[in-house]
Amino acid sequence: MSKIWKARFDKDIDELADEFNSSLPVDKKMYGQDILASAAHAKMLGKCGIIPTEDADKIIDGLNEILEDVQKGALIIQDAEDIHMFVEQELTKRIGEAGKKLHTARSRNDQVATDLRLYAKDSINAIKKELVSFIQTLIDIAQKNIYTYMPGFTHMQKAQPITLAFHLMAYANMFFRDLKKFNNAYDILDECPLGSGALSGTTYPIDREFTAKELGFSRLTLNAMDAVSDRDFVADFIYNTALTMIHLSKLAEEVITWASDEYRFIELSDSFSTGSSIMPQKKNPDMAELTRGKSARALGNLTSILAVLKALPLAYNKDLQEDKELFFSNEEILLKSIKIFNKMLSTATFNKERMLKSAKRGHSNATDFADYLTKKGVPFREAYQITGKLVNHCIKQDTTIEEMPLSELKKFSILVEEDIYQKISINTLVEQRKFKGGTSPEAVESSIKILKEHLKLIKID
Ligand code: ARG
Repeated sequence: MSKIWKARFDKDIDELADEFNSSLPVDKKMYGQDILASAAHAKMLGKCGIIPTEDADKIIDGLNEILEDVQKGALIIQDAEDIHMFVEQELTKRIGEAGKKLHTARSRNDQVATDLRLYAKDSINAIKKELVSFIQTLIDIAQKNIYTYMPGFTHMQKAQPITLAFHLMAYANMFFRDLKKFNNAYDILDECPLGSGALSGTTYPIDREFTAKELGFSRLTLNAMDAVSDRDFVADFIYNTALTMIHLSKLAEEVITWASDEYRFIELSDSFSTGSSIMPQKKNPDMAELTRGKSARALGNLTSILAVLKALPLAYNKDLQEDKELFFSNEEILLKSIKIFNKMLSTATFNKERMLKSAKRGHSNATDFADYLTKKGVPFREAYQITGKLVNHCIKQDTTIEEMPLSELKKFSILVEEDIYQKISINTLVEQRKFKGGTSPEAVESSIKILKEHLKLIKID
């Protein structure tokens, strides 16, 4: 493969070294961004009189043709060290001398930093769209299940009854936090490094504001050396995607558990389940399992990017070329997983009777029994002891508090009256938790309303 930099060398690059050095198979994904940034740069060179405007026009036309040809499959991206070299080589092949002027006042170091930021902006927008849609799906399901009772767990042991709406809204809030993190990451990276050159700027009379504006950046980077070596935005992106994957993985784990025969809280659509090659009865929640599995790679990529950046001296070092594979990997994992989850959950059905039955088991009204006594003047710790003994009795007799007659309950505390049955019924348990953020239908409805308003404020470019 012919090299732009080969004049300084006596020998050709070794074949294996050439392949090792090439990033084309990975960074060809950024061809659109590279062409866009190159066109903006050429326009600026022409406007500032650094190259003749006729040459700038030829470059821009040539770049647009390359873009079209790649998009329609007429031009295959190959035979170059990286995407930047490919575009420049192809341009020169097509328009001759003028093409050789494109790289004036530019280095691949500021070029790649610009391309990747442009790519990251598009990618964050795509992720934000998917997150908004997924949160909307969670809200839709929640709205239909404000009164669907289910057990709430701590330590995977039944703790207190909640509603399915409340449970799903816990995830909606988690994903909304992720959305805000992507927003912040976008704001931080929204500055243009073009004009930083290799590391110290350029002697040409360039107009950095012009190119930044052409490319839709809000600000300029303010230190050329930092600008060409900064990949914090890649680390931010990978952290945010990894954390969102961890949230999806938590949800995946619950879906897998709920789909098991022991729980049967959820029935996944056949379209989002798979069978077994040997056991004809099986219906497996593979989509959720794969999401859980893929989150491992998303997390590994985070460790990798941090390790690449650690102790890397200023300014550009080739180690940085590793950034894109990690970026693209997390982008793909997350986009695919959210889309799958969105479809899988909106087509699933919830087994309300099973959930209710399960919520009623496990003595999860014990806290409220203790609270009943406390409200009648028994110090909470004492009420707790009385209730503990009562639950112990229930377990041994294989019964529940509400199944015991009043005369029996009175043996544990004379303060217990007929109203206890209403006070510890599942409806009361859920409906009384009506402060902001609680599980009552009223509280959940109000939290849904607030989240919907917050969602409306999310701006997607
Ligand atoms: N392919 C390179 C990368 O992704 C582009 C920058 C190359 N810069 C250089 N000085 N060799 O990092």
